[in-house]
Amino acid sequence: MVKMIVTLLLFGLALVSSTQLDSSDFITMEEYKRIMEFRSLAFEFAQHYENITQTDLDIPSTRIPNQQDLQCLADMTQLTTGLASGKLWSVKMFDSWGTFPKGLLMGNIYDMGNYDECIGIQKTISDKYRIQGKYCMAKLPILKSLGIPLDLNIGICLPASCSATNMSMFLKQMLQKLIGININTQLVTEENCKTSDREPFDGLAIFTIVFLSLMGAALAVATLCDYFLYGDQSKRPLVVMAFSARANSRTLFRLVEPRTNPNVIDCLNGMRCLSLIWVIYGHQYIMALLAPTMNSISIIRWFEEPFSNLVSHAAFSVDTFLFLGGLLVVMISLRAMERTKGRLNVPLMYIHRYLRLTPILAVAILFYMTLLPHLGEGPLIHKVRFDDYSRCERTWFWTLLYLQNYATSEICISHTWYLAVDMQLYILSPIFLIALYKWGKKGAAGIFVLMLFLSGCLFTTMMTKKYPIRLQQGHLPVEAQRKLYFATHTHAAPWLLGFLFGYFLHANRNRTFKLNHLSVWLGWLISLALLFTSIFVLYPASKWHASPLSMLEQSLYYTLTRIAWPLGLCWVVFACMNGYGGMADSFLSSPLWQPLSKISYSAYIFHIVMQQIIGSRMRSSAFFSDFEMMIKFWSTFGFSVLLAFVMHLIVEAPFGVLSTMLMPSRRPTPKPENTAEIHQEAEIAKSKTTSASPVEIIATASSETVSTLL
Ligand SMILES: *[C@@H]1O[C@H](CO)[C@@H](O)[C@H](O)[C@H]1NC(C)=O
Ligand SMILES: *[C@@H]1O[C@H](CO)[C@@H](O)[C@H](O)[C@H]1NC(C)=O
Repeated sequence: MVKMIVTLLLFGLALVSSTQLDSSDFITMEEYKRIMEFRSLAFEFAQHYENITQTDLDIPSTRIPNQQDLQCLADMTQLTTGLASGKLWSVKMFDSWGTFPKGLLMGNIYDMGNYDECIGIQKTISDKYRIQGKYCMAKLPILKSLGIPLDLNIGICLPASCSATNMSMFLKQMLQKLIGININTQLVTEENCKTSDREPFDGLAIFTIVFLSLMGAALAVATLCDYFLYGDQSKRPLVVMAFSARANSRTLFRLVEPRTNPNVIDCLNGMRCLSLIWVIYGHQYIMALLAPTMNSISIIRWFEEPFSNLVSHAAFSVDTFLFLGGLLVVMISLRAMERTKGRLNVPLMYIHRYLRLTPILAVAILFYMTLLPHLGEGPLIHKVRFDDYSRCERTWFWTLLYLQNYATSEICISHTWYLAVDMQLYILSPIFLIALYKWGKKGAAGIFVLMLFLSGCLFTTMMTKKYPIRLQQGHLPVEAQRKLYFATHTHAAPWLLGFLFGYFLHANRNRTFKLNHLSVWLGWLISLALLFTSIFVLYPASKWHASPLSMLEQSLYYTLTRIAWPLGLCWVVFACMNGYGGMADSFLSSPLWQPLSKISYSAYIFHIVMQQIIGSRMRSSAFFSDFEMMIKFWSTFGFSVLLAFVMHLIVEAPFGVLSTMLMPSRRPTPKPENTAEIHQEAEIAKSKTTSASPVEIIATASSETVSTLL
């Protein structure tokens, strides 16, 4: 994905530079006229193949035409004679072609024609002889002769019996004759072709549909039972409770007044939700870079604007997630360890967390791999895609093991790399927790040194491998992304800082901090300076013609911002907890964030589904501007939240309730709605556990973090 974008940008840059040349150097009138002749590509094509014969097939003399060649030729003959006699279907077939894109110098290099008109063509010639329209996106290197390394992407439509190779051959011959260029690349590939035939669902896709339908049915039945059979809520069986949309939505939408529970940091909800929004917003721009744009040049210019830094540094939102992850693990676990005198039931902790996170992830893998290819019907289905999800067939198990960031370069659902980092740090967390519990400040110092060591490791990796962070420096290798961004050891700093900060809060939990005005102002000033510097410091270097940053500068920026960002966040959390948050606190702690916060895990996993469906349904080039992006963002965000809500109800919540109930420890995630439920829970707890080991409380507590983790 990254590579694609970079190539695209480099092409765009080339275009910018060529248009910046003096116009008399750019193009001669002769050349321009020749290009203008392509104003109607379909017309040229029809004329060129007016009297199509076998010689037009361009078959090497060493072989005789095969069945497919002849079928394609026959259909082409039908097409051209149909056109000569004005048959509607033939006219339609050429009518649906794209033409030479308008506004080429604005960076418009796509003309998709009319996809639906093309694949809608079904002509029955005789009983056994039917001609179907096949739409392909051809890449025509027409501008190469002008020294512009851009392919024009033009939608073409021909009979389905002609393969991509055959179409490519026809186009090459025509271009050769018209502008005399020799082309040795494939102009049309089967991947970019579509007919109205749908691929059948494979076994796994059917399984996914059946599974989701069954879960949906269970939800419907349980909800109805809940309404009509169990007036007395305390008598609801476990299954009904787990699947009932009524019970689960109640839990989801119950708003808790801020500051009612001293153990809850209210502003984390706002931070979590804003980070989620930031992630989705950033990904929306990535989709825009992949999609055909009628003013690509504006994108190139956009990168030089200050605002673009907010988008291109959206990755800090994930650092926020990591920071929150570390913070919550330490606070909840230490609180519980105090009660248990330092005992940790580590396996139980792991199992709980795994069971809480994995069901919905597994469903997501099935969904992305099997259903997504069938959704979002359109000419760009293979082009505008965030990720290649067919690779899940090969690497799905790494994702389920949370090892995908190290084990493979073909991550199944690549944005889950974050889950891997977080899980791996969680696996290590008992070591840190015990160190903190046993040695207190010394343990914390040790963790701090570890954090510095890992940052040093990140810095050295960048310096020695010369991984660039900016596009100007050339290709951003996928390799660099894996080593710098996906790897736990290079991305642990925000989590560890959150962890240390959580320890600080825990150690001072009974203290009230009295700060004077000056310190509060100073705190906010420094915190905001850290946050804004992290985002905007590269702005001067973001000019395309600025001198590139040295490797040292880049490495320092990247390493230090991974520390500066979470440090800035520490103050925000601290200020909000101690009543120095003011406006920020009332905003971040608003109860309205709570429902979104609870489904943020599901929304994080599923938002790309919506982005990809919306992206691949495009029928024409989009117009790029920040306002346009905002509109797209709100539509994907709205749909993503809806999808996340559905997935939460049919997968996340039922599995969550079931796993908590069936595990040795008690306390179901949906918190009791009324006293009756508390009784019921107590009953279940009694029947399940003879002696509630204190350690299990930790495990439960940690498993609660999970639902609020993202
Ligand atoms: C096709 O045949 C017609 C009639 O024989 C002729 O006038 C026309 O020029 C031919 N077209 C091409 C492209 O050769
Ligand atoms: C037409 O396509 C088929 C299938 O790809 C291929 O075998 C054949 O060689 C092609 N014919 C020509 C003339 O390109």
